[in-house]
Amino acid sequence: MTARKRILITGANGFVAGNVIWQSDPDCELHALSREPGPAPRRNLHWHVVNPASAEHVQQVFQSVRPEAVIHTAALANIDYCETHQQQAREINIGITQTLADLCAASGTKLVFCSSDTVFDGEHAPYRETDLPRPINFYAVTKVEAEKIVSQLGANGVVARLSLVVGLPILSQGNSFLATMIPALKAGREVTFPTNEIRTPIDVITVARALNELAAGSHSGIFHLAGKDSVSRFEMAQRIAARLGFPSRLVVATNSSNLAGRAPRPRNVSLDNHKARAELKIPMRSLDEGLALALQSGKINSP
Ligand SMILES: NC(=O)c1ccc[n+]([C@@H]2O[C@H](COP(=O)([O-])OP(=O)(O)OC[C@H]3O[C@@H](n4cnc5c(N)ncnc54)[C@H](OP(=O)(O)O)[C@@H]3O)[C@@H](O)[C@H]2O)c1
Repeated sequence: MTARKRILITGANGFVAGNVIWQSDPDCELHALSREPGPAPRRNLHWHVVNPASAEHVQQVFQSVRPEAVIHTAALANIDYCETHQQQAREINIGITQTLADLCAASGTKLVFCSSDTVFDGEHAPYRETDLPRPINFYAVTKVEAEKIVSQLGANGVVARLSLVVGLPILSQGNSFLATMIPALKAGREVTFPTNEIRTPIDVITVARALNELAAGSHSGIFHLAGKDSVSRFEMAQRIAARLGFPSRLVVATNSSNLAGRAPRPRNVSLDNHKARAELKIPMRSLDEGLALALQSGKINSP
């Protein structure tokens, strides 16, 4: 089968989506769906400004574009916000996925959905694609429900479970923790990271290239997109600070389970990435390799 060349991407002004756009094949016709207009950092990029929560508006865009594949990144990705705004989290994270899945099912279009390592409870790492999700916060509940919807597409459904994504934003800052961390360190302010949350961080360039590869190819099912190193968020932040030449004393350890008003976080959701390493051309990298790639990437809005 030839590579799919007409792609629709949702949440286009977000952190991951900006990098997907930046890393996409310039010969591919890319359609960006967003609530706000965005810049055009490449040719063949068309913006569609609609609220994706409106099924009618999404349908209109879908039918005018007739995409061969959809990369669905749009979500309420703030875990604490989802915990206290559950109805809205349901509407955005599950509702938009259902709209897109219905449109993809009716037209035979591929759907690549961004899920999360936090679908797991954190007590049985490392997790493989075949392990059963067991969410412990509401954000993860919405991701598990959305995964089920995408799985019903069979060969046209891909669930990409992302580990913690490290990198710089391209369009707007979005959910990039590095975009907050770097200005703080530059100003000599301390940044706090938990020692009790273990992840397999992955650089955003690798995530973006993998999502583009999944959309273009004939893959289906669940893929764990994760780095090779299993580290605490604190250790990860220390390594980032060291690499950028900031003093290690500015990175302060905390135990996130003691923080009031915070939704529960799984302890260790390290993902086993063997399937991605076996089936994708883009290599999964170590934290240091990923950082080197992410920090040198071209960017429009660097912190
Ligand atoms: N970053 C990570 O470490 C990470 C890890 C695991 C999974 N993920 C998943 O990967 C995907 C992308 O994450 P990200 O880090 O790029 O997040 P992000 O920067 O917050 O981008 C998400 C985008 O979703 C859209 N969106 C947000 N709230 C919305 C609302 N109320 N109504 C409609 N659309 C809304 C926005 O797109 P527009 O502004 O263009 O409308 C926003 O830019 C998400 O599905 C997230 O759950 C991310």
